[in-house]
Formats: sequence, structure tokens, C-alpha cells
Amino acid sequence: MCGIFGIVTKQETNLGPTLIEAGKMLSYRGYDSVGCATINAAGEIDLRKDAGKVDAVAEQYNFAEMSGQRGILQLRWATFGAPSKVNSQPHLDSDGDLVGAHNGNVVNNAELRKQFMAEGMTVRSENDGESCIHAVERYVNKGFGMVDAIRKAYEDLKGDYAFVIGRQDEDVLYAIKKGSGLVAGIIEDGTVVSSDLPSLLPLTRQILRIEDGEIAILRADGIELRSVADGSVIEREVELVKETMEAAQKGNYPHFMLKEIHEQPVVAGELLNLLDNSEEVDAIVARIKAADNIYLAGCGTSYHACLLASVYFSRLAGRATIPVLATQFIAQYGPAVGPGDVGMFVSQSGETKDVLNAIESAEAKGMGVLGLVNVVGSTLMRVSEHHIPLGCGYEISVPATKTFTNQMIAFLYLALRMGGHDTDILHDLPELMRKTIAASDPQAAELADSLVGVQDFYQLGYGMTYPMALEGALKLKEITYLHCEGMLSTEFKHGPLSAVEEGYPVVYITGREDVDLIVSGINEATCRGGWAIVVGPEDARLRANGHEFMILPETPTPEIEALLTVIPLQLLSYHLSLALGYDPDFPRNLSKTLTVD
Ligand code: G6P
Repeated sequence: MCGIFGIVTKQETNLGPTLIEAGKMLSYRGYDSVGCATINAAGEIDLRKDAGKVDAVAEQYNFAEMSGQRGILQLRWATFGAPSKVNSQPHLDSDGDLVGAHNGNVVNNAELRKQFMAEGMTVRSENDGESCIHAVERYVNKGFGMVDAIRKAYEDLKGDYAFVIGRQDEDVLYAIKKGSGLVAGIIEDGTVVSSDLPSLLPLTRQILRIEDGEIAILRADGIELRSVADGSVIEREVELVKETMEAAQKGNYPHFMLKEIHEQPVVAGELLNLLDNSEEVDAIVARIKAADNIYLAGCGTSYHACLLASVYFSRLAGRATIPVLATQFIAQYGPAVGPGDVGMFVSQSGETKDVLNAIESAEAKGMGVLGLVNVVGSTLMRVSEHHIPLGCGYEISVPATKTFTNQMIAFLYLALRMGGHDTDILHDLPELMRKTIAASDPQAAELADSLVGVQDFYQLGYGMTYPMALEGALKLKEITYLHCEGMLSTEFKHGPLSAVEEGYPVVYITGREDVDLIVSGINEATCRGGWAIVVGPEDARLRANGHEFMILPETPTPEIEALLTVIPLQLLSYHLSLALGYDPDFPRNLSKTLTVD
């Protein structure tokens, strides 16, 4: 996720320190490049930017000395174009009298860039933020005023984004919102705008929330809102925001975990946009197709994504792959692998030592290394021949949620592409995730209350829901400190069934293809007094045999259905953790990233 910040003041001042601070506040979103532009009272633009962290880039380019009457800061998280100086934001238009930066994804970026070049504009980077500026330039060149030029540009720029733009010979900034976050505020001697509320709170509590389809004109003495649809002025009162910084960072959710669960549909949509426009997908598919053996390796939650991925590759592309825990990879396959093999290494952080050890041993044997990673600039990203960024922004809560769903989506996308299937089938996925969260959140909360007092239980799945059972049990163990084992449902009768007695809870997770098998498993437990909690599709057979239900919405394919089953399980763990009085974000003894053996 990128971050943008803009400021307009009455007089020319030293804006550098404020821009740097805003950059630090926005850095939780994850980024790989930083840039600042200031415009002084004479209309001169000072633009400094590069790939790197806020402290380092700010020091190298002396952001602190930058002054002006207007300023823009951007943190870029690479999607269109590699992290580099030229792809960093802000960007200038062709003749350098417009400057601006964006956050989000312009999905028709490739097509727009061609048009801009054909129209004679100077396109300097591959980055879609630059397209926002040229899209406005196009209409300014035709004689439109800024508001109308932005309104026209809004029609041309497809996708979800927000951007800030300023013109040399004016004294205002324009901020436009379409899908991505944008909040404005009134400060003592001017106005500010940012991708999020927390970054504004150190400067002001007088906030003006901008909605999609609105242009905010930031002047030194106030903010005017205009409608993109017809250019009319929108009246909205400035609010006095009272929440604490921590509450603002949590976006009014009580915990980061719940916030991150609710972010899943948004980041899924962003990832799908990214994959649709990524050249890495073809490169990775070609590399996997040509490999002798394909290993899928990770730890914890990331390993569970590998397990599901293996079923996806088999079902959708007819290709066998070997999912393996990263440390076991060395012991089990290390001596056997060779240069014809490829490993896809999966890690949210990209820094897990167990994963990096496995990569080291794979590289020593000449294996190809591919990465699926959330943290841009991480070691995994750097050592991978090709990688797919998960595009989730920063995941703060220790239990992984949104990064797990995006790992599964990335794998599903790759498997569909490998098998020559249409990936458009995935475009309803964010909406299905939204529906799943809305339906299962209250059910999970109620169920969690009735599970208080239980000391241990099982989560069982089959086929594609087997990895979900492992993940559901891991989530539960991480944040409730209870014993919960995830298993293949058919293995339950080979031992653990002996634990079942009156009231013993067993969670059954099923897709529509496996209902009969799961129903027979449910009966094994219920005839011994077991308490059957079911996660699956609406089905009369499940209703007739289970006790409690968390039902999924109708889904276009069994593969999509399988990945959705984890959402009710995440919510169940979350609510049970709360019901037991724990902090799900920071469970005892655990760390988000384990950089030790
Ligand atoms: C730690 C975390 C787990 C995580 C695992 C792998 O154990 O507590 O939640 O799944 O590391 O992390 P990674 O960053 O490699 O995905």
C-alpha cells in the first residue's frame, strides 16, 4: 500500500520536517521508495525522491531543508515498475508545471501510458502514479481548468486510487478519492490531506472526510469539496476527532487482527489487479512448467498456503508439487534436489530464518528460487529470481490473516494460469469474502462464548479444506493458548476419536464436494456425544447432522469455496481469544517474525 500526504500553508515555510514526519507515520503501510515535492511562493518545484527507507532517503536528499508553500510526500510500495528513483513518486507532467503522487492501482496503466506517449507527452517511468498526472495534463493542455481536467481524468483512470496534484502557477493542491483512503484536515496556518487519519492527528484534530468521487481543493484558508460527477460544491462540516492515536491506527476496530480480517476483501482486490498486470506471473508459470520437481516451502501459516497450493496445482493444472515445511525441506529433500528443480518459498515477512536456511540449501544445489512475500525489500524478495508481492500492506497482528488469504489467492491465480483457465472467475472473490465476514462474525462471536471452558478440541477438513483445518487450529492455538489439533477428517477415526465424549467439540470444515464424507465423520463423533460445529456451504445434509453452523455464501468454484472457509475460523479464534480475556494481537511467547533458528 502506498501512502500520500499533502500540505498547503499561508506562507512559504520549511515543510521538510513535517513531510518527513508524515512519511514516518505512513510507513506502517509498507513501502520501498520515498519522495517529496515542494512548491515555493514563486511556483518553483523542488522534487527529491528515491528507492529506500524514509530516514535514509530523507538524509541522502536532505528533505529537511525543503521549503515551500505547498508540499507533497509519497511512500511507494512497488506494483507498477520496480522500486527505483524514476518510478518513485511524486511525478511531474511533461513540461514540469504539474506535480503529484498517488496511492492505489490504476489498472489500465499500460494502455494509458501508450496513449500519453502517442499524444506526445513525456512519460518517464512505468509507474501508474505518473499516469494520474498525465491524465490531468491531457485536459489542461486542451484548455480545461484544473477541476474540470481532474474530472475528465477521473473518467480515464480505471481502478481504485487517490491522488494529490498541484500546479505551479496556483497556490492550492487538489486531492481526489476513488476507492483508496483519503482524509483532509485544517491546521493552524493551512490545510493537510493524507491517506489515513493517524498521520494527520499529530497536526490537527479538525478533520474533513473525503468520499469517493470527490475532489478536495486545499487552500491555505480552508478546504472546498467538489463533486467529480458534475463539479458542484459539496457542503460538509469539519469534524472534531477525539479518538486516541492507537484507536485511529486500528481504524476504530478494537484489535489489529479484526481490522486485518476485515481488510481481506480490499487487499484481495488489490492483489488481483496487481496479478492481472504483472509480468512476473508469466515468468513464474513458465519457470514452474519447465521444472523437474516443484517444492512449495514455508513455515506456520505460510506452509498451510503451500498445502492448499499443491491441491490447486494438481486440480487446475494437472501438475504435482511437493509442499514441505521449510526446515524439513533441508532434512528430507536437501540431498535429492538439483538444478532442474524449482522452489517457491512463501513467507509473509520474507525474513523467517527457517525459510532463508531452506533457500540457502536450495541455492547451494543450483535450484531455482521463486518467492511469494508480503514485505517488499525483504531478504526473500531480494534473493528470488522472480517474486509475487502479496500486496497486503503492513500486517501488525501476530496471527497472519490477510497475508494468508492473499497467499492462497496468488497460488490459485498461478494454478489457473498454468492450467490455461480464465482468471476472471476470481473477480467476485472480494465480494464473497465480504459476505463471508459479515455472516460469520456474529456467529463466531456467539459460538466463542459457548466454547469458554473447553480445554481442547479438533478441527477436521478433507481435500482442500484439510489445510484450512490446520490453519484454523494454528490460529486457535496462537491466540487462545488452548490445545486444538487440525487433522484430515478421515484420520480422526484412526486414533483421536477416542477423545470424544459428551459435549466434546469437533469443528468440521467442508467444501461442497466432500459433504457426504464429512457427514459420515460428523456421525462418528455425534453418536459418541460429540458436539459438531460445521463450516461449509448451505446443505441439507450438513444441517441434518451438525449442531452449529457457519455457512459460506454460494461460490463459483470449489477452489474459491475452500479458501473462504478459513475466514469463519479466523473469526472464531479471534472471538474465543477475547472471550478468554487475551490480547489476540500480541500472544505471549510468539513473535511475528522469527529470525532465529
Ligand atoms: C511465526 C509467526 C507465524 C507465521 C510464521 C511464518 O511463527 O508467529 O504466524 O506464520 O512465523 O512467518 P512468515 O513471515 O515466514 O510467513
